[in-house]
Amino acid sequence: MVDSRPSRYTLIIDGLETMEAFGRQLGRLLMPGDVLLLYGGLGAGKTTLTQAIGHGLEVPSNYYISSPSFSLMHEYPGRCPLYHIDCYRLTGEDDIEGAGLIEYLDPLTGVCVVEWPERLGTLTPAQALGITFDIRGEERRRLLLTFPSVNWSQRLKTFCEHFS
Ligand SMILES: Nc1ncnc2c1ncn2[C@@H]1O[C@H](COP(=O)(O)OP(=O)(O)OP(=O)(O)O)[C@@H](O)[C@H]1O
Ligand SMILES: [Mg+2]
Repeated sequence: MVDSRPSRYTLIIDGLETMEAFGRQLGRLLMPGDVLLLYGGLGAGKTTLTQAIGHGLEVPSNYYISSPSFSLMHEYPGRCPLYHIDCYRLTGEDDIEGAGLIEYLDPLTGVCVVEWPERLGTLTPAQALGITFDIRGEERRRLLLTFPSVNWSQRLKTFCEHFS
């Protein structure tokens, strides 16, 4: 029997404009409580996608979404708050607890986007949407979306098919 409830989508994003369109669409369907885990090496496009998600979440245009590498977390207003975390400089779970980031991993009133989520270890939220970036060319990225629940697959289906 064909599984009508996929747990992953693979998308090819050809260029910055398409990444912007994808992120904006994704941002539009996010709701408080959602966590996105962005996996991929330096320069893969994680912050660029977060900027586009912010546009879909209606973060006002006078806010520039920049990499929170040093401050670890930036919060932006929007349709709901956007919490943008970068774990690159953290080495493990103690660091994450010490930095006071745990509450954002189960965000009651906002959406949380995490760069370098590999560092979260056992703190990785089980219900999160994972997006893994693979650089396929100067402006070409392959995105693998993985999700644990039918809820995500239903929400993503229509627009992911458009990009795949
Ligand atoms: N299709 C694309 N999607 C995203 N970024 C792209 C794309 N094509 C080119 N780029 C460029 O790749 C770079 C991605 O940088 P970005 O800061 O978003 O990466 P990152 O994954 O957040 O890296 P880091 O781990 O250092 O935070 C930018 O210079 C961006 O303009
Ligand atoms: Mg970044």
